Amino acid sequence: MKLLTTPPILSLITISTQIFKRGLLAPKKRLLLTYLIAMIGILGTSGISLYFFLIKNLNQQLDKELLTLVQAAAPSLDIIKLEGSKHLDREVPWRNLFSQQEYSLEWYDPEGNLLAREGNQFPNSPLFKTVKPSQFDQEFSVFQRLGKMQTVTISVYADNPDGIDPILEGYIRASESTYEIEAIISKFRLGLSLGGFTAILLVGVGSIYFTQEALTPMVQGVNRIKRITSDVSHHLRTPLTRISIATEILLSKKDKIQPDEVKKLNIINTSADQLKRLVEEVLFLVRTDITSNPKERVSLKPLLQNMIEQFEMVAQTKGIDFRTQLSSRVFIIGDSVKLTRLFTNLLENAFQYTEEGGQVFFSMRLSQCNVVISIQDTGMGIETRDLPFIFQGFWRSEMAQNVYPEGFGLGLTIAYAIVQQHKGKIIVDSHGKAGTSIKVKLPLA
Ligand SMILES: Nc1ncnc2c1ncn2[C@@H]1O[C@H](COP(=O)(O)OP(=O)(O)OP(=O)(O)O)[C@@H](O)[C@H]1O
Ligand SMILES: [Mg+2]
Repeated sequence: MKLLTTPPILSLITISTQIFKRGLLAPKKRLLLTYLIAMIGILGTSGISLYFFLIKNLNQQLDKELLTLVQAAAPSLDIIKLEGSKHLDREVPWRNLFSQQEYSLEWYDPEGNLLAREGNQFPNSPLFKTVKPSQFDQEFSVFQRLGKMQTVTISVYADNPDGIDPILEGYIRASESTYEIEAIISKFRLGLSLGGFTAILLVGVGSIYFTQEALTPMVQGVNRIKRITSDVSHHLRTPLTRISIATEILLSKKDKIQPDEVKKLNIINTSADQLKRLVEEVLFLVRTDITSNPKERVSLKPLLQNMIEQFEMVAQTKGIDFRTQLSSRVFIIGDSVKLTRLFTNLLENAFQYTEEGGQVFFSMRLSQCNVVISIQDTGMGIETRDLPFIFQGFWRSEMAQNVYPEGFGLGLTIAYAIVQQHKGKIIVDSHGKAGTSIKVKLPLA
């Protein structure tokens, strides 16, 4: 790029175009959303872990109590087999348990027949319907949840005076209703939900506050850069105009100056013109970003028709087949000057990067609540790997620099900023030499 400009100005312009291109609200929303998702994720995972930890612990505690009870009752199986449930009428150490709590005990013979039982609530299922005798070959106790009851069954053996293997005396099943556990869990769930809701509410309010705090210096910095860029661009206009006028005056007296000097003056003049155009572009970009959203009701067809007429002349000069298709009665809320600039930039590109004999197709159609304006050309196209860079300020493909050396790489950056301001979308599709298709989607009024 042959520019009569100083590096600091260029870097200032580059930084600001990057910031404008990305928009200011987007990072705020992104930061807020990320913070919220992270906090809700942490709170949710902690809550769920705590919930399952509590359930596991309560169940383990219950199992432990039942196992202690059933083990304490093991010696009684022998007596019950001899005396039947009469034995239970007498004083036994764990007896009080049954009157106060939800515990129950059942004594069974080796065939699974109930010998006696004590307590208030029992599981509905007979012993061998829920446990198989073979289960006790490997385990001493079997833990089960039967409906609303938690049970532990153990097998009881007596020494065998005639052999090594002990003799199976029967089984004892201890049960307890899970009502108490469920009541604790449901209270905990309620507490967790209320606590979770309050925490999410506080996190939400906190995130808004912290995001605001974190972004305020950044937004102030960006605004400062915008103001400086706008002021610098504005102040550059006058001296550049003076340079142009002065060189033009000198050039008008060609006969009084040396041909060599005329050449130099021409270079100064062209460079001043280029700089003026760059300043205008940057100023337009900055102003697009700092002005409030447009509120004018714009009829698109006449606006586009007007613009198309000018490009028909370009098409004729360049020998390009230019076709158009416009829908009538399309209204959008926007700024007609900026919209004209948007489509001019896109059409300029289509004509600049399409060779003689090529085609440019401009169309407008309605799609649900949007209008879609599409600009297709059969020009040199954009390589797929270059697509991520085209909206970055000052990016130009090597081919574009050869075809149109005067460009700055700002046309699409400006187009993007205008589309963003109009709450629309711009989609570029190109696969190298097959030409380029650009679609602009804008919400209808
Ligand atoms: N229709 C198109 N066909 C092929 N390449 C394109 C087309 N439109 C854009 N490009 C590529 O994207 C780059 C950026 O386009 P942009 O309009 O921003 O800048 P430019 O045309 O190079 O210069 P100017 O600032 O004058 O518009 C171009 O240099 C070119 O490489
Ligand atoms: Mg361009």
